[in-house]
Formats: sequence, structure tokens, C-alpha cells
Amino acid sequence: MKFRDYVVLTINGKTRKISGEQAFMPFSSLLRYEASLTGTKVVCAEGDCGACTILHRRHSSESEKFQAINSCISTSFLMDLSHVISVEGLAHNNHLSEVQDAMIKNFGGQCGFCTPGFVMALSSMYENTTGITEQKVKNHLTGNLCRCTGYQPIINAAMAVDTKKVAPLKSCYNYSSLTENFVSAANLPVKITFGEKEFFAPTTLEMAAEYKKQHPSVRLFSGATDIGVQINKGKNPGVHLMSLHLIPEMYDLRQEGDQIKVGARVNLNALQKFLEGKSPKFAEFLNIFASPQIKNAATLVGNLANGSPIADTTPYLLTADAIVELFGSSGARSVALIDFIKGYKSFDLTDDEFITGIRFNVPNTKASKIALFKVSQRRDLDISCVNSSFIFKTQNRKIESAKIAYGGVGPKALRLFNVEKALEGQEINDALISKAKKLISESITPISDLRGSAEFRSKICLDLFERFVEETLNS
Ligand SMILES: Cc1cc2nc3c(=O)[nH]c(=O)nc-3n(C[C@H](O)[C@H](O)[C@H](O)COP(=O)(O)OP(=O)(O)OC[C@H]3O[C@@H](n4cnc5c(N)ncnc54)[C@H](O)[C@@H]3O)c2cc1C
Ligand code: FES
Ligand code: FES
Repeated sequence: MKFRDYVVLTINGKTRKISGEQAFMPFSSLLRYEASLTGTKVVCAEGDCGACTILHRRHSSESEKFQAINSCISTSFLMDLSHVISVEGLAHNNHLSEVQDAMIKNFGGQCGFCTPGFVMALSSMYENTTGITEQKVKNHLTGNLCRCTGYQPIINAAMAVDTKKVAPLKSCYNYSSLTENFVSAANLPVKITFGEKEFFAPTTLEMAAEYKKQHPSVRLFSGATDIGVQINKGKNPGVHLMSLHLIPEMYDLRQEGDQIKVGARVNLNALQKFLEGKSPKFAEFLNIFASPQIKNAATLVGNLANGSPIADTTPYLLTADAIVELFGSSGARSVALIDFIKGYKSFDLTDDEFITGIRFNVPNTKASKIALFKVSQRRDLDISCVNSSFIFKTQNRKIESAKIAYGGVGPKALRLFNVEKALEGQEINDALISKAKKLISESITPISDLRGSAEFRSKICLDLFERFVEETLNS
């Protein structure tokens, strides 16, 4: 079998092959120290501040546009078959881009350290969004921190950009001439070694399963928004590292009957857009998931596989009766999410298996009463203290079916079947709601940590149920 011992990408229109030590570096380090593109800054190295924002586009999809991602938590091997634009690549023919120009004219460039990140985030917004409003600007800047709190000149700059003059970023460089180079590379699996470390990117599921069988402790990388933070904090991801980015099925995103299927490499931004109109409540909920930069890289599968009891998508997936699709050396297997999560970071997953996708039911939005909640210390860019999902069907004040799930209430996210059973077939009244609240209290075992005490979490769970009853069930 022939392998590539490099990953290939373009940076500001120039093709680069990356191998050996460079492939294992955070991408921000590669830009700054190997490519001398020091406009990309690193401040937090945790995906929080946006100073390291770059623009990224997968080569395989012509329709895909450049999107902002955090380069500090992305490992360089994950940039395989991608086009990257750093802040140095925005100016063209000796002219700054419209966003850069507006930042200067409106005094948006203040400390100079966070400024490149703001410029890149706004460039991504203009590339991907129309009908810009001040609220949209604020939403697109949730992943960028200005520590001197000088946000207003930056917002003014964003609003001052002459949209008619903004050219698609793809037009900046001649990407079509690079196609051949990339297409031949896409057919070859990648194996890069540096010291004892090995990165493997198979082109088929069978190859991936075989590699995992040989190296059961292999660490899978999807968007790396969890793993990248851990690495930057000094945690060793292990010796064998694998990415499924060369397997086309991993980008599957489709509706089949009343189910939505999401491949392991589909990012949350693509999912959010896809869900609009199909599962609007889940799409709306994803608005308060992380930042645009994180969602342009992070995957639904990664959110589940990190095994956090407060992962934001798990309660909804539990109430949507999600199925986890797995692949191993004996082939494909599906398992209900409720059975897949066995405990704290513990799954029904054999040594040679990995997750290939998630399927979940699309609730009938007309017949169902749905609410998703996330309680965190800040509204944006924060990890949940408690999250929950409720999907009910009612007929004339009678509950036909009830699905309730909470995260942050124990070692794993919980579906409360006992409460659901007590509610189904019953008329909605105060006595029933009190009974349900008592059962909820008895079913959860939250702990105290820096995000909230056990008492606070218990109270929040009841408040969220009450809010669902008041705002959704009784409406
Ligand atoms: C600034 C910031 C904000 C965040 N905000 C939120 C938030 O609001 N809500 C929230 O829930 N999370 C949040 N997160 C956490 C993270 O972004 C999510 O959990 C994300 O969905 C992880 O997806 P990923 O593709 O980046 O996973 P990765 O980091 O690539 O992987 C996560 C874990 O899953 C494993 N894995 C990946 N793919 C597979 C596979 N195919 N099979 C088996 N295992 C696999 C990896 O080995 C790893 O252990 C935030 C993170 C950051 C840095
Ligand atoms: S340096 Fe702060 S998000 Fe990357
Ligand atoms: S302008 Fe950079 S911190 Fe405020």
C-alpha cells in the first residue's frame, strides 16, 4: 500500500507540503514559526479569545466557503487538503480588504494583538452572511475577545463595510490550478511519523478499523476543539493519532425519512444550517453553542465522544432517540445512544471500533412541544452548568408522549424514563406537574463544582421543567 508521508494545503494561495515534526504542531505555531506569518496571534491557546483566527476551506467541496476557525487548537495534520488564508493573505494587489480598510477608518484596530482575529472573524462573516445587522455582527464576534472592551469601534467598522465591494475570498487566489495536486493526494492514505508519534489518515473505513485493531489506544481527531485544548494544556493525546477526513462518507449530512444522519466529520455550523426548517429548535439551540470559530471545526460526534456529562447536544439527542453508528473490524454496528453512554466517559465501544455518525429522529414540529435549555454563567461561549431537552406530544391537555433529558446532573446525561411514564396519558394539571417535579428531584444526582453547587443544579432542573410547562406546554 502506498502512503503519503505529508499533508498538503495552501496558505495564502501557495501550496505547502507538511511532514515530520511540523505536522504535529498547533497550526498557529506552523504559521508563526515555520511560515513567518506572525500576524496570527496566540493569546489564550484554548479557543476562547479568537486572536489566532484564520480562514479555512476544505478543497473537496467546491461550494464550500472560507470560514473562520481557531488555529491555536488545530493540529497542522488536520489542515490536509485545505486552503488557508491568514491575515497577511487578505490584502490584494497592494490594497487592503474592505474589512481591513473599514477597521482602520473606524479606529477598530486598537491594541493590534486582538485586531487580526477580529478582522478574520468579520471577513468570515462577510463571506458567509448577507443582510448584516449590528446583532449579526455581535453574534459573529462571540469568539473574539477585546480585553480593553473597545468593541464599539469594531462594530462600527463592521457596519461600515461596503458590501458591494466585498469579493468572495476564493477569487483572491487561483485555486482551480491546484485541483490536480489535491485530487491525487486525496486518494492516498497519510502516514506521518515523528519520534514515537504516528499520524494516520485512512481512505476507507476498513483501513481505519484495521489500524484501530492494531493500536486500540489510537486517538481519533475530528474538529480537535476538545483535544486541541487538552494538548495545549500539556495532556498527551497518545502515540497513535487518526483522522477520518479522507473518507468521503464521513461528510454525509442528509435526511432519510424522519431521521437526520450526521457523519463524523460534519461540523456543527454545517449541521445548524441544515437543521433550519427541519429541526428549528435544535438549530436555534446551536446558536448558543461555543463561537462561530469553534462550530466551524467542532463536530456532533466529537461532542458526544468527549464523554462530558454537560456536552450540550446530548440531552437533545437522547430525547430524539438518537442512534450511534459504529464501525470496527467485524463491520458496521448501530446502538441506541441511551445504551451507548454507559457512564462517565464510558461507552459501548469495542477496542477496534470508532463512531462513523449519528442518526436522530426529526420531531414533527407541528405536533410536538419542544424546548431546549442551557444554563451557564455567561450566555455566549461558556460551558453549561445544566442543560436539558423536552419533547412532548399533547392532545387537548392530555400528554400523549413525553421525552425528558438533562445534562450536568450526574456522571452522564440522563433520560428520565420514570418521569415520562408518570406523565404519559395524564391530564396536565398542577398536581401532575408537582408529582413530576418530585420524581425529577429523586432521579438526578448532581455534584458541586466550579460551575454550580449540587443544590443549585437541582433547583435549576425543576425551574427548567416549570419553564417548559409554562412557556411551551401551556401555550
Ligand atoms: C472555546 C470553546 C467553547 C466550547 N463551547 C462548547 C459549548 O458551548 N458546548 C459544548 O457542549 N461544548 C463546547 N466546547 C467543547 C467542544 O467544542 C465540543 O465538545 C465539540 O463538539 C467537540 O467536537 P470536535 O469534533 O472538536 O471533537 P475532538 O476534539 O476532535 O474530539 C473529542 C473527543 O472525541 C473523540 N472522537 C472524535 N471523533 C471520534 C470518532 N469518530 N469516534 C470515536 N471517538 C472520536 C476524540 O478522540 C476526543 O476524545 C467548547 C470548546 C471550546 C474550546
Ligand atoms: S489564541 Fe485564543 S483562541 Fe486561539
Ligand atoms: S483592541 Fe485589542 S484588546 Fe481591545
